[in-house]
Amino acid sequence: MAKVRIENVVKRFDRQAAVNNFSLQIDDGEFIVLVGPSGCGKTTLLRMVAGLETVTEGEMFIDGVRVTNTPPKKRDIAMVFQNYALYPHMTVYNNLAFSLKLRKFSKEEIRKKVTEAAAMLGLADLLDRHPNILSGGQKQRVALGRAIVRNPRLFLFDEPLSNLDAKLRVSMRAEILDIHRRLNSTSIYVTHDQMEAMTMGTRIIVMKDGTIQQNGTPREIYNHPVNKFVGGFIGSPAMNIIRSRVDARSEGTWLTGPDFQLAVPDARAPLLQDHLDKEIYLGIRPESFCHLGASDNGQASFEAVVTLVEPLGSEQLIHFTLAACEMVAKLDPHIPLQYGDRVKLGVKMSDVHFFDLQSEQNLQSAHRAA
Ligand SMILES: Nc1ncnc2c1ncn2[C@@H]1O[C@H](COP(=O)(O)OP(=O)(O)OP(=O)(O)O)[C@@H](O)[C@H]1O
Ligand SMILES: [Mg+2]
Repeated sequence: MAKVRIENVVKRFDRQAAVNNFSLQIDDGEFIVLVGPSGCGKTTLLRMVAGLETVTEGEMFIDGVRVTNTPPKKRDIAMVFQNYALYPHMTVYNNLAFSLKLRKFSKEEIRKKVTEAAAMLGLADLLDRHPNILSGGQKQRVALGRAIVRNPRLFLFDEPLSNLDAKLRVSMRAEILDIHRRLNSTSIYVTHDQMEAMTMGTRIIVMKDGTIQQNGTPREIYNHPVNKFVGGFIGSPAMNIIRSRVDARSEGTWLTGPDFQLAVPDARAPLLQDHLDKEIYLGIRPESFCHLGASDNGQASFEAVVTLVEPLGSEQLIHFTLAACEMVAKLDPHIPLQYGDRVKLGVKMSDVHFFDLQSEQNLQSAHRAA
């Protein structure tokens, strides 16, 4: 177990900052997920924590001790890579035993640790095999096992499941969390898959262009994205985001666009007070739409033509165009809808998000901070 503190860390390759002014504190036994699009600096950050990459600026501490320039071997960290990095000429047993041999553990101790890890990971029957005849999931387990036998104070995972098929990924996620609970080891887990981040992290750090956009629980991040990027990145299907004008009318505040007029509930109108007669980004999650009958006259409704129906069994995704944007609504699968139908949709205005057009900050977060 370990506490980690990352202070104002910058990593520059040539002049370009891959990680920029990154600060984060991780508690003993926490399972933190770093998520962000390809190239946002996730691997670079993990490699700096592991000591495999130098830090351009800033400091790193593990359990209060400065490790910014400490070599990897002395950090007591195990990293699990995306490509497994198994030794092809060694059996599973020897792959698991390798780091322990290097560290001069006795044969007996090695056998004990390897047997324990193999049992935990369901590898007991595979110890004599070579990696080339293991399935992807089994290889991934060996890679995990190599990290576990070392009993490190900190685990780093760099997209460890991205080579696996969807079903295996789901079961390996559960296994990794189960191992985490048993060992209670501090872990940093990197993924670009927002779904994986949401299901695994007790705390998620959303990154973009080397910086932290938001740090919060999955629920906080989903319900209160601090900006347009986080709103659009977390959630599947993605949040629909359209430009919309804020109209002050005698009967209240409205959001309007080429094909729609939506009344803003009085409780939320104050958020838009500084944006009257200006445009904002309106963010609507697919589940914030509802299907209305022809006679329903909600003030937050509009009509659109269905351009695609995705029947997913427990729900259906309805695609349509609004204000020249592709939109997706998640609706009850029992509503008979097909391509070309004209539908009336309502919007749950208590759940939508408002983002500033320039700063792209969520007006709700700005309002709360004020
Ligand atoms: N050794 C290097 N030399 C120069 N630039 C690098 C080096 N390593 C990474 N970069 C750059 O730093 C940025 C961050 O890369 P990094 O690998 O950390 O991204 P990532 O978030 O892990 O992406 P992915 O999800 O694709 O793995 C990228 O623009 C990348 O091109
Ligand atoms: Mg990476």
